[in-house]
Amino acid sequence: MLRTHTCGELRISDVQKVVTICGWVQRIRNLGGMTFIDIRDRYGVTQVVIDEKSSNELHSIVEQLGREFVVQVRGEVVERTSKNPKNPTGEVELRTSNITILNQSELPPFTIEDDTDGGDELRMRYRYLDLRRNPVKNALMLRHTMAQEVRRYLCNKGFLEVETPFLIKSTPEGARDFVVPSRLHHGQFYALPQSPQTFKQLLMVAGFDRYFQLVRCFRDEDLRADRQPEFTQIDCEMSFVERDDILDVFEGMARHLFHTVKGVEFDAPFRRMTYHEAMSLYGTDKPDLRFGMSFKDIGAQLKGKGFSVVDNAEYVGGICARGCASYTRKQLDELTDFVKRPQVGASGLVYIRYNDDGTLKSSVDKFYSADDLMLVAKVFEAKPGDLMLILAGKRNKTLPALSELRLEMGNRLGLRPKNQFAPLWVVDFPLLEWDEELQRFFAMHHPFTSPHPDDIPLFQSNPAAIRANAYDMVINGVEVGGGSIRISNRELQQTMFNTLGFSDDEAEKQFGFLLNAFRYGAPPHGGIAFGFDRLCSLFGGSDSIRDYIAFPKNNAGRDVMIDSPSSISQQQLDELNIIIKE
Ligand code: AMO
Repeated sequence: MLRTHTCGELRISDVQKVVTICGWVQRIRNLGGMTFIDIRDRYGVTQVVIDEKSSNELHSIVEQLGREFVVQVRGEVVERTSKNPKNPTGEVELRTSNITILNQSELPPFTIEDDTDGGDELRMRYRYLDLRRNPVKNALMLRHTMAQEVRRYLCNKGFLEVETPFLIKSTPEGARDFVVPSRLHHGQFYALPQSPQTFKQLLMVAGFDRYFQLVRCFRDEDLRADRQPEFTQIDCEMSFVERDDILDVFEGMARHLFHTVKGVEFDAPFRRMTYHEAMSLYGTDKPDLRFGMSFKDIGAQLKGKGFSVVDNAEYVGGICARGCASYTRKQLDELTDFVKRPQVGASGLVYIRYNDDGTLKSSVDKFYSADDLMLVAKVFEAKPGDLMLILAGKRNKTLPALSELRLEMGNRLGLRPKNQFAPLWVVDFPLLEWDEELQRFFAMHHPFTSPHPDDIPLFQSNPAAIRANAYDMVINGVEVGGGSIRISNRELQQTMFNTLGFSDDEAEKQFGFLLNAFRYGAPPHGGIAFGFDRLCSLFGGSDSIRDYIAFPKNNAGRDVMIDSPSSISQQQLDELNIIIKE
């Protein structure tokens, strides 16, 4: 080894030892003849000191040093006169007589400090330099710890880690597939898995009754802070179980992670909420329960008074922001602008202030008397000092808009602290979603999800009303995981494919392997997959999952460091028998 110790290791108990460290030059300071150099590696920073009496040779080496040079330093550990309590090695320094330059460095394009001057794009281009910074390095260390704890928990529960292929045939999970052309079979393509869904089900048919895999999944979809084109799932499946067995095991996994990684405990079982409850109380299937402010439907109180926006609305609902009656005109205008943003999509905002003197004042006083407004205040259980914010319109547009407004108010009021966690299960999702444009049903989760047994007759009469035996784990407004009990019966699976618009032939062509497997004794089974990157970012307190991925893509799905995607050579195209259209 080129070193005896790391840069994070030396303590007061090491004084007088002669040691060798290796690392990168973080900082050089020249103070009245004495030179101090901070040397950094993955483990920490150690201060090296060169005093004025050192040899000319050493001084000339020091003069050559620049930021990010890689050096080997040998010297004696001494106690510092001015200690730095913030640094674990801050009680000592290394008095050196010997520095070897192992490699030089050009001036890095941004400062490699906790707070850097580098913009996002620049840091992505030089990701290997960004990874030297503590916040980014710590994020990957957190990811490592979490992966270890996931494996420990699941292995203790008898789960077997099995790898599944990446070059597969398309599985419909709602996103677009990434495809890979085949050289050996011209005109044919592999698809990269959106998840190992069908393979884990086949493993159940094979009798591997508890499977898991920390696995990369690939989805060609529009990117957001919590979406990457390739991301990692904790993918799991179990046989001979019912829904609550799965919820128990994986609530246990979440608790284990919170306990071991964050030291956070939850006394009560995770709350369970039906999809319909979540939608009507919070306007979303992933409610942030760190704060209340649930929706109240006030159509009955406000309709029929001549205010056409409300009178013609399918849904009229609102939230009550405690203590916000003193909001200024400007603040209310900001909120109005917020709800009118295209991403939020409301046409306007109605407010009612409950003044401290007990009077009510609204933005639509023209249409409503004080008594009318008091009825609304009653529904909200509002008190003097509160502000009621109301939206009206089509139900499927207004609920999500009100959800955004609720989250915005939660942010403004500081009700969403990063170190507080509110997990819940959302259950009883609808099985199918109707697509107005395409005039067909889509599976809300995926086509392998079992309907609620009581609802199977509805396939004939009212498919839209079928409940799925599906569940999501939601924490702080983030869908961290989702799964379902699966269909394990060939006929029911066929009915599901037919309802999704596949003919028997098409279903056979695309999913024959699964339908065939169901001929040979498929056990009842179900499972779940967690978004591992999302879990990491939630635990680490960042909004972007990119911070927890060593080499992520940017928002345009591009790796700006290696410059990918990129064109390929004519020879490669010829081998694949592919012609690029101009
Ligand atoms: P689903 O599609 O809900 O289920 O995915 C499971 C979890 O994966 C995470 N996730 C993502 N994370 C980052 N970037 C993305 N593009 C992305 N897409 C999804 C989410 C989500 O909850 N096969 C089923 C699981 C099952 O039924 O067992 C599946 O993939 O946190």
